[in-house]
Amino acid sequence: MIKTILITGATDGIGLLTAQKLSALGHTVLLHGRNAEKLDRVKSELGNSYPEVKLSTYVADLSDLSAVNAMASSVKTDHDKLDVLINNAGVLKTPQTITQDGMDIRFVVNMLAPLYLTEQLLPLIPETGRILNLSSAAQNPVDLDALKGQKQLDRDMDAYAQSKLAITMWSRILGEEMRGGPIVYSVNPGSLLGTNMVKGGFGIDGNDVNIGADILVRLSLDDELNASSGSYFDNDAGQFGAPHPDALDDEKSVAVVAAVKDLVTRLTSKH
Ligand SMILES: NC(=O)c1ccc[n+]([C@@H]2O[C@H](COP(=O)([O-])OP(=O)(O)OC[C@H]3O[C@@H](n4cnc5c(N)ncnc54)[C@H](OP(=O)(O)O)[C@@H]3O)[C@@H](O)[C@H]2O)c1
Repeated sequence: MIKTILITGATDGIGLLTAQKLSALGHTVLLHGRNAEKLDRVKSELGNSYPEVKLSTYVADLSDLSAVNAMASSVKTDHDKLDVLINNAGVLKTPQTITQDGMDIRFVVNMLAPLYLTEQLLPLIPETGRILNLSSAAQNPVDLDALKGQKQLDRDMDAYAQSKLAITMWSRILGEEMRGGPIVYSVNPGSLLGTNMVKGGFGIDGNDVNIGADILVRLSLDDELNASSGSYFDNDAGQFGAPHPDALDDEKSVAVVAAVKDLVTRLTSKH
């Protein structure tokens, strides 16, 4: 069956390779990127390779929630069903770490934007649908002051790892809330895969990016690869597993998710 699949951050790295693999399988792929030219290039390359596949593109800088809002509206205008949403776009190192709203960009792009986008697109996702949220083996306890932009973190990796624990917490809570509805997984695609993020962040070539793309394809399509909604798939182990203990702690997880939702409300009420 042909599925309709939205991949954020489909212009490079794991997201691009996942888009290629899903297109090769004949699925309808909604490609997201922040750079219109790069996104158009990806679309025309995929269109040339797979002329029968339906592709559409959405431009949004995920550090700006008004752009996320506009993107969600466009997706809803163009499509009445979304079988799979892959919240893949992410940032570790970037020259400008603080957004115009005074927030750490890692929290906004890696956590707030996926939550906001998902909330808006949920009406399109059928009960049989799937939502994949990109986590990481790097998960650090979330400092609520840093999350709220009231304190700056010194290390890129700390901000990144806190955002990844936050999205893992939210994935579990959302998955549990929606039992019987779309399945939600957080996914560590594999560590140190050789993308721009890893090459730029660690100065190494990194491991085969196919490791990450292949697991996203399987988790999108393979009914036999399943666990209860909200579970964490750890591709370093090749199986569902335990995230950071804080992601299994109800009190901590509820506090982080409530803070994220408050922030999204505050930031989007300015639109
Ligand atoms: N690589 C790994 O070993 C690894 C390990 C664990 C988790 N992950 C996670 O896997 C996901 C994909 O990472 P990757 O390694 O493939 O990184 P990547 O090659 O740097 O790709 C990141 C993607 O996100 C997009 N992006 C970045 N900032 C954005 C913003 N502000 N607005 C919109 N899009 C933005 C990028 O757009 P451009 O093309 O314009 O740059 C690109 O398409 C991330 O969530 C990452 O945290 C990766």
